[in-house]
Amino acid sequence: MSSAPQPAEEKSYLWFMASALAVTLLAGLPLPFLIAAGYSGQEPWSGRLDGLVQAHGALQLQGWAGLVVAGMGLRMVPRLAGRRPLPSVITGSILALMLAGLLLRTLGQTLAPTWVAGGFLEAGAGAAGAGMAAFAIATASTLVIRRVTRSWGLAAWAAAVWWLVWAALTVRAAALSTAGVIPGNASDASNWVGLLGAVGNVVWAVQSRSVPVFYGRRPPGMLRLAPPLVLFNLGIVAVVVAVLAGGESARLYAPGLAAAGLGMAWLALVAGSIVGTAIRLRPGSRAAASFIVAANLWAIAAGLLMVAGAMLGVASGQPPPVTLRDAAYHAFALGVVTILIVGMAQLVTPVFAIQRAAAASGPTVPHRLVLSTLMLATALRAVAGAANGAISEGLWALLIAMAGSLAWTGLAAFAFAMARSWLRQGRLKTGLVSSALDKRLS
Ligand code: HEM
Repeated sequence: MSSAPQPAEEKSYLWFMASALAVTLLAGLPLPFLIAAGYSGQEPWSGRLDGLVQAHGALQLQGWAGLVVAGMGLRMVPRLAGRRPLPSVITGSILALMLAGLLLRTLGQTLAPTWVAGGFLEAGAGAAGAGMAAFAIATASTLVIRRVTRSWGLAAWAAAVWWLVWAALTVRAAALSTAGVIPGNASDASNWVGLLGAVGNVVWAVQSRSVPVFYGRRPPGMLRLAPPLVLFNLGIVAVVVAVLAGGESARLYAPGLAAAGLGMAWLALVAGSIVGTAIRLRPGSRAAASFIVAANLWAIAAGLLMVAGAMLGVASGQPPPVTLRDAAYHAFALGVVTILIVGMAQLVTPVFAIQRAAAASGPTVPHRLVLSTLMLATALRAVAGAANGAISEGLWALLIAMAGSLAWTGLAAFAFAMARSWLRQGRLKTGLVSSALDKRLS
C-alpha cells in the first residue's frame, strides 16, 4: 500500500536538520581540536587561529543552531499561525543560500590563500545574509498575514527582527575584514545577535507555545511572557550597542548583559519547565522531556553566568570578563540550544513520531547516552571558558578536547537515530496503516 503524498514543505525541515548535523559533525565540532592545538604556536595552522576560531563560530552558530532553527521555524511558525505550509521553492532557496554562504566563508577563513580569503568571506556573507533575511521576511509575513496576537507571536516577532539585524551584521563584519579575519567587536556583535536575538527568541517562541502544554499547564499569556522577554531583548540591544560603540563600554555592556541574563533565567521559568512530569505526553515520549528540563536548567545557569560577568565588569570598571562571557555563551549554545534541539526534534517532528508510534514503546534515540554526553560537554566547555588564563594552556586544551569529543559523540548518536528513522519512515508508515486496518477488520 502506498503512503499518502505529503506536501514538499513537510519534509524540508529534514533537509535543514540533516545539513545542520553534517555541518556540526564534519566541521564545526572538529575545529576546536585544531584551535586548542594551534594555541601552542607550533602547528602549521597556528598563524591562522583567528580565522579558525571565527570559522568555528560561524559553522556552529549559523550552520548548526541557525539551520535547525530556520528549518523548524519555517515549518512551525506557519503551523502555529494556521497558515498553509510555505512552498518548497522558498524553504529550499533559504537552505541553499545559507549553506553556500557558510561553505564559502569557511573556505575563506581556513583553507584559501590569504590573498583571496577576503573575497570568499564577503561572497559567503552575502549569500548567507540573503538567506537569513529571507527567513526573517518569511516569518514576519506569516505573522502579519495571520495577524498573530498570541504571546508566542511576540517572541517570534523579536526573532524575525533579530534575524534581519543578524543578516546585516554578518555582511558588515565581512566588509570590515582584513585577509579573511573580522575585527573582534564586529564578530562579537554579530555572535551575540545571532545566538541570543535570532536563535534565543525562537527558543522562547516555540517553548512558550508548546512546553507548558506538555506539562498540563496553559501557555503563558502576554502579561506573563512580555516582561521577561522585553528585559531579555533590551539587554541584547544594550550589549550590541556597547560592542558596536567600540571600547566595549562597561557602563552599557554590564547592565545589558545582566538584563539579558536575568531575562533568560526568568524566561526559562515562564516559557519552559524545570520540574514536574510531562503528563500530556505519551509515556513513550516522556524521556525526551528530560532534555527540555535540562535545557531550561542550563538557561538559568547561563543567565546567572551573564549576571556574574556583569557584576565583575561593574566592580572592575572594565567590560565583563571575556572568560565568563565565553562560558555563558557556550552554556547557552550547547546547554540550551543544542540540548533543546535534540529534545524538541523527538517531540515535534513527524520522522520521530512515526518511529515511536510503530515501536509502540521504548525510546527512539539513546536518551541516556545523548543527554549525558551533551550535559557533560556543556559543563566542561563552560569550565574551560571560565577558567581560561587561570589554568595551564595544556589543561585548557584538554578540557576543550574532552568537551568537543563528548558533544560530537552525543550528536553523532542523535544523527544516527534520525537517519535510521528517516530511512525506515516509508516502511513504518505502511506497517502502521496495515495494522490499523487489521484492527478495524478484526
Ligand atoms: C563542545 C563543543 C564546543 C567546543 C569544544 C567549542 C570550542 C570553542 C573554542 C576553543 C573557541 C575559541 C575560544 C578562544 O579562543 O578563547 C570557541 C569560540 C566560539 N564558539 Fe565554540 N565550542 C563548542 C560549541 C559551540 C557551539 C554549539 C556554538 C554555537 C552554537 C559555538 C560558538 C562559538 C562562537 C560564536 C565562538 C567565538 C567565535 C569568534 O570569536 O568569532 N561553539 N569555541
